Amino acid sequence: MARVRVHQHVNPLAPFYRQAPKPVDIESVFADPDKPLLLDIGCARGRFLLRMAEAEPTRNYLGVEIREPLVEEANRLAAEAGLGNLHYTFCNAMLWLDRLLEGIPPGVLQAVTIQFPDPWFKKKHAKRRMVNPEMVDTIAKHLAPGGNVFVQTDIEFLAEEMFEHFRADERFRESPIEENRFPVKTERERAVEDKGLPVYRRLFLRI
Ligand SMILES: C[S@@+](CC[C@H](N)C(=O)[O-])C[C@H]1O[C@@H](n2cnc3c(N)ncnc32)[C@H](O)[C@@H]1O
Repeated sequence: MARVRVHQHVNPLAPFYRQAPKPVDIESVFADPDKPLLLDIGCARGRFLLRMAEAEPTRNYLGVEIREPLVEEANRLAAEAGLGNLHYTFCNAMLWLDRLLEGIPPGVLQAVTIQFPDPWFKKKHAKRRMVNPEMVDTIAKHLAPGGNVFVQTDIEFLAEEMFEHFRADERFRESPIEENRFPVKTERERAVEDKGLPVYRRLFLRI
């Protein structure tokens, strides 16, 4: 099947992307809502979660993405694969992650992944970067104690900026890691690896 075509980037501060999402209802989107939840923020086409949902079905998986056509395509593929533990949702996570997660019962969210977010290189576009102190606060609020956040990117300055946001929040403890411990790599990670470029990664534990 042809892949749906989308703009490479969208401006998360444009009026269309300021619309609030409905809080996700895990009772209606997952077959077994009591499973621990992994949230992937900026999931693009969602292939990482699609493969994770098959490889490790003991969890539920929620993908968040700002490009709506990708969300529709990913949900269609999840349904075709008959996966009751996988769902994708359209949301500007930079502004609305807290609203999206507000209905999730305490203790359910146990892992978060943020992988190769758009760097928005120019200084004048820095406000468009997805990971900001508000997002870190939202994750700290919803993530179960003992849960963790896996952050990786190939852009060194962006990695340091994201790591600093998590370091600045005392509810997280940093853990350096050499390898990606997930059995699946994202599309972007594979592309970066094929070029032999370094990847900067950290795990932040919710204490
Ligand atoms: C470079 S891609 C990486 C995709 C995937 N995580 C991977 O590693 O292959 C970054 C993704 O984050 C999405 N994104 C950027 N800003 C976002 C935001 N504010 N909220 C949700 N998704 C966002 C982009 O649309 C894009 O799909």
